[in-house]
Amino acid sequence: MDFKSKIRVIEDFPQPGIRFKDITTLLKDGQAYRAAIDKLAEYAESKGADLVVGPEARGFVIGAPIAYKLGKGFVPVRKAGKLPAETVQAEYDLEYGQDALAIHKDAIRQGQKVLVADDLLATGGTISTTINLVEQLGGKVVGCVFLIELTYLNGRKKLEPEYHVFSLVQY
Ligand code: PRP
Repeated sequence: MDFKSKIRVIEDFPQPGIRFKDITTLLKDGQAYRAAIDKLAEYAESKGADLVVGPEARGFVIGAPIAYKLGKGFVPVRKAGKLPAETVQAEYDLEYGQDALAIHKDAIRQGQKVLVADDLLATGGTISTTINLVEQLGGKVVGCVFLIELTYLNGRKKLEPEYHVFSLVQY
């Protein structure tokens, strides 16, 4: 499957000079979506993951079906203030300012093998923060999977060699 041909590139969104990678065109294509999830799930299975964690919002669209496919649980990471029970939080830098992500304290048991999933690896800030949360709870990150990797932003360098990284489409 040529996944790249299913992803629409929007010029100058959300600001001039940015070539936005729009995955909605892949998601609405049932065969492409399934094939993409199958590939990512295959990788997750090879790493022996027993839980999938994905950050809001597009990480849900990738992480949850991988978990379903594997018959494993899915744990959401959300912007701070959204989860109802007790959480742990971690801050991360935005282009302007800071924000915080959160996870339920009882979401991961000590030593559980966790696959982290998101739609896009750009600078790696979101995924590093997600990993930080998983590790605060004693989870072991066995792999990170992405639909898309923007190689020129060097997010992979933030993660390797400590973490295994797999992406389906590279720009
Ligand atoms: C996008 C994308 C990744 C993140 C990648 O999410 O879905 O989560 O940015 O960028 P990074 O590697 O530089 O951290 P966004 O924050 O736009 O949230 P959304 O999924 O809720 O739209």
